[in-house]
Amino acid sequence: MAAEYRWEGDRVARWLRNAEGVDRQLAPVTEALFDAAALDSGERVLDVGCGHGPTTRKAAWAVGPYGRVTGLDVSAAMIEAAEAADTSDHGATIDWTVGDVAEWTAPYPHDVVISRFGVMFFSDPHRAFSSLSGALRAGGRLCVAVWARRDASQLFELPYTVATSVLDEMGLDYEVPPADGGPFSLSDRAAVTELLEGAGFVDVGWAPHTFPMTIGGGMAPEVAAKGALELGPTRIVVPDDEAVRQAVVEAVTDAYCEHVDRDGNVVLDGSIVVVTATRP
Ligand SMILES: C[S@@+](CC[C@H](N)C(=O)[O-])C[C@H]1O[C@@H](n2cnc3c(N)ncnc32)[C@H](O)[C@@H]1O
Repeated sequence: MAAEYRWEGDRVARWLRNAEGVDRQLAPVTEALFDAAALDSGERVLDVGCGHGPTTRKAAWAVGPYGRVTGLDVSAAMIEAAEAADTSDHGATIDWTVGDVAEWTAPYPHDVVISRFGVMFFSDPHRAFSSLSGALRAGGRLCVAVWARRDASQLFELPYTVATSVLDEMGLDYEVPPADGGPFSLSDRAAVTELLEGAGFVDVGWAPHTFPMTIGGGMAPEVAAKGALELGPTRIVVPDDEAVRQAVVEAVTDAYCEHVDRDGNVVLDGSIVVVTATRP
């Protein structure tokens, strides 16, 4: 796996620092994921790449006390944060588990695998999705939300384009991240279908959605511009130099001022795909 997409250290700390706002921003994604997953009372659910567990806890409510939910994540710090947040009287028991899905064997068969943006970072996608198909009972279903290509989402493309224009004006070099790399690695329908069929799934479904997303869950342009330098492709291209960062923040702030709602919060479109499949 490319070093910049390892889920450890600073990357996890940054995610956890922004988690509450990101969760509000991603509310339409969560809704589309749960609509497609159609969880039923008593089902056993695996939430893969569960992070600090917002969708895991929601799944536990959805399946109720007769259900069971596994929250699996490769990052011990994510699972620690998930366990700390798991204080409410949720419906199903949640088994919080640290592990890389490619190496993991499910202790019991699940009815459904869900994920909100937790399946795009596997170092060996074939092995990881084979493991997920092995974690399902026959007839069990996979339902995962993934990002469309980077350049399909204004929320990634706008700050990225503004930042690279500033770097170009300053005569600074940077490596252009591929529009279908890292978080966007499952954005090609034909490749994903081939991957899932090769891992033992059938009936692969592909439902694209574009939602207006309130950046950071509700941020004024300058705060959102600083946030853009913390996450996603903009973070990767902007060097750790105070003067450059300040110039990028000012330019992104100006661009974001054109995209505020009535409360003065930045709202940009984000494009995702809900991918579904069945284990025969
Ligand atoms: C973008 S975050 C999404 C977290 C969470 N699903 C959410 O929506 O808040 C991606 C998560 O996938 C996890 N992850 C990445 N590779 C993994 C793997 N091989 N096995 C298990 N979890 C993995 C990361 O540790 C991280 O928590």
